[in-house]
Amino acid sequence: MGYVDYEVNGYVAKVTINRPKALNALNEEVLKDLSDTFDAIDIDAVRCVIVTGAGDKSFVAGADIGAMSTMTKEEGEKFGKFGNDIFRKIETFPVPVIAAVNGFALGGGNELAMSCDIRLCSANAMFGQPEVGLGITPGFGGTQRLARIIGVGKAKEMVYGGRNIKAAEAYRIGLVNAVYETIEELMEAAEKMAAGIASQAPIAVRNCKKAMNDGLQVDMDAAIVIEEKLFGDCFETEDQKAGMGNFLEKDKEKKLKVVPFKNR
Ligand code: CAA
Repeated sequence: MGYVDYEVNGYVAKVTINRPKALNALNEEVLKDLSDTFDAIDIDAVRCVIVTGAGDKSFVAGADIGAMSTMTKEEGEKFGKFGNDIFRKIETFPVPVIAAVNGFALGGGNELAMSCDIRLCSANAMFGQPEVGLGITPGFGGTQRLARIIGVGKAKEMVYGGRNIKAAEAYRIGLVNAVYETIEELMEAAEKMAAGIASQAPIAVRNCKKAMNDGLQVDMDAAIVIEEKLFGDCFETEDQKAGMGNFLEKDKEKKLKVVPFKNR
């Protein structure tokens, strides 16, 4: 894909936004390539996805300001929907997605990271929603997901003030799970985490993602029903039989050896 590189290693896929000359800023072409890349992922063969940016300076420096500068109200709204639909696709992607944030994650970049399940970053990362300085609101989910991740008060402070924050502060407020000194260490940690997730029973991991995502959108009475259904859905699967059987046989070696998705 022109602006997005894709590789698979074992059960882990890596999606790299590749437009480093513009710090991986998101124009329509980049967004379309990102969307097409996710559409093409074989979810029977891939159990975890890592999203990162090309180069050593930027994850994604936001939506493309040049492209947005001449948009009408209608075009702006359409562009917002275009980005939102793709980020929602990532958020609801059946398998977990880890953002490996290797530099600037501003505006649409922070929004992309927030549509992923887990965020890890390098020490040079910088996060923010600087849109108010450009005369617009965040448009790819920033007014919605930031508050859900770090809380309403902190999110409003960041969004209203357009103040960018460094990796250490992002860690302190819970926007990222961990900070690594270098990009190499970041990628190593992301790959290790992804491989760890991929080594677990895949139906169970998928159902955990769906239960947590869907349950957080509804009240607790409805949420526990969502959990019950996805919990029940795991039973009678090869994974459940193998996982529990191995435990009961006290076979530590076989404990995590679950049946490949394709053979179910
Ligand atoms: N859109 C388009 N081009 C961008 C860009 C963006 N968001 N961010 C960086 N670039 C381009 C620059 O124009 C520059 O291109 P040229 O070499 O052709 O001039 C190149 O990337 C390198 O950028 P800088 O020279 O500015 O690099 P720097 O190290 O001095 O600064 C930066 C880096 C602080 C990230 C700065 O580029 C910057 O502030 N970028 C804009 C960040 C931003 O405001 N993002 C939010 C966009 S709005 C949005 O995302 C809306 C939404 O919610 C959907």
